[in-house]
Amino acid sequence: MDTPRRVEHQQTDRGYVPVYATGTVEQPWASYSKVDHEVWDTLYRRQRELLPAYACQEFLDGVDRFGLGDGGIPRFDDLNKVLGKATGWEVVGVEGLLPDEVFFDHLANRRFPVSWWIRKPDQLDYLAEPDLFHDLFGHVPLLLNPVFADYMQAYGKGGMKAHAIGPDALMNLTRLYWYTVEFGLIRTDAGLRIYGAGIVSSKGESIYSIDSPAPNRIGFDLERVMNTRYKIDTYQQTYFVIDDFEQLFDATRPDFTPIYARLAGGTPVAAGDVLATDKVYQRGTREGFVSGADN
Ligand code: PHE
Repeated sequence: MDTPRRVEHQQTDRGYVPVYATGTVEQPWASYSKVDHEVWDTLYRRQRELLPAYACQEFLDGVDRFGLGDGGIPRFDDLNKVLGKATGWEVVGVEGLLPDEVFFDHLANRRFPVSWWIRKPDQLDYLAEPDLFHDLFGHVPLLLNPVFADYMQAYGKGGMKAHAIGPDALMNLTRLYWYTVEFGLIRTDAGLRIYGAGIVSSKGESIYSIDSPAPNRIGFDLERVMNTRYKIDTYQQTYFVIDDFEQLFDATRPDFTPIYARLAGGTPVAAGDVLATDKVYQRGTREGFVSGADN
């Protein structure tokens, strides 16, 4: 049980990657090695020390409420007792990335799929696919926040609708996920803070997203976000900033069907571009930007 079973390859929002068996799996907790637990502890400690100055308080509160630093890889069953009581969400074990429809169905039913396997010690800083550390440490703490929890479920339902409309609609919706759930920033009294899972699970991008002068930081605007390409293999060139989770939930409440129709006729914005209509918190210096194919 140490290597996940790859069933096929598929073009996804993370590029051409293996897609795994679609069923859920019992977390094989007894099969984790000493090294697996040490990888968790190392990554946990590193991020927990760094993030008070970078992540939003809602995220940090979630990390501590779950006791993610109690030592070793957490047991899904223990997390689910806390999570179920708080917001009715549940963590389910999976082999890895899921086909879109399967992923959306989980979210729409308040189940968050978490890859059961963890990266190797030589992959602490980067790996191409989401593993247990990214999925659990990055995504699950905010599921304790009632507004964010409802947003995630609404996203799942919206995903099923977008999937039925077609690939262009799906791409627009995926961009929203990318720039909020994975790479979102939020305004706080202490300054800009991270809530995106793809950032908080990466030491390098946690620091870059807040401290670097290179990327743009732009106020969240639903249609702008849904029309903006993104980078899958470098740090983001633009981060979108929400005022609070209510703003995100309220902005995404309306039916997206007319938005999909409108965007279908137009040209997407490049990942690093700034528009005259943007509310710019920080115009990036673009240092280190590489041009190339974006999603
Ligand atoms: N309101 C969106 C729709 O009609 C659904 C959605 C909600 C999508 C929240 C994303 C986030 O498709």
